Amino acid sequence: MSGNKLRLGVNIDHVATVRNARGGAYPDPLRAAKLAEEAGADGITAHLREDRRHISDADIDGLMEVLSVPLNFEMAATEEMQKIALRHKPHAVCIVPEKREERTTEGGLEVAREENRLAHYIAPLREAGCRVSIFIAADRAQIEAAHRIGAEVIELHTGAYCDAHAEERFEERDRELESLREMSAFANSLGLEVHAGHGLSYETVKPIAAFPEVMELNIGHFLIGEAIFRGMTPAIHEMRRLMDEARA
Ligand code: PXP
Repeated sequence: MSGNKLRLGVNIDHVATVRNARGGAYPDPLRAAKLAEEAGADGITAHLREDRRHISDADIDGLMEVLSVPLNFEMAATEEMQKIALRHKPHAVCIVPEKREERTTEGGLEVAREENRLAHYIAPLREAGCRVSIFIAADRAQIEAAHRIGAEVIELHTGAYCDAHAEERFEERDRELESLREMSAFANSLGLEVHAGHGLSYETVKPIAAFPEVMELNIGHFLIGEAIFRGMTPAIHEMRRLMDEARA
């Protein structure tokens, strides 16, 4: 996980979504994680939601045990999640906002509004050796706040850019892309490592992968969906190819 190569983190949450649709053990997200690893994923991302709608506590235990690549553990800034993270000490902890009624993580974290609380919240995680990443919108005030609270990494929310693309609102898409570009450079100038993710697909990945400051992309839903059609390994290989092409 070093050097200048753009890393691909594969989010396996939605393998658990399919498993949980029937309440059993199949398909197993750990098997998907190992397959993703073999296909060249540089890391595995999993979001333990407060309502446990996809990934379970046992999945996190299992991932910590079986993975050879780093785990990026996504979680809300709650006391319960902090305890779980401190027990496992994953390579990275990504703090995300969470509302129970949402279908997915809809916006970035409001760091500026909760600066004091979040600074205290992430301190023990950093002391435990976790790289703390904050999932935020491409917004200068949020980036500055993330920097002030001592985060090492920010992950820029690419959802608005991807939605605008999917809905063919191309001017808006291009504006979103421009602010992602500017804010990647701004965050980098503060010394923050820049990651990006949410909603990325083969159609939307390349402009983001081309930003030289972006060091890691976290991609889940599209890849798990695409795995249905072409298989997990070819789905990941194609994403890797597009990322490399954009970066070249
Ligand atoms: N990054 C973060 C912080 C996320 O919360 C998610 C969704 O869980 C992703 C990346 C991946 O998004 P998607 O599943 O839409 O690719």
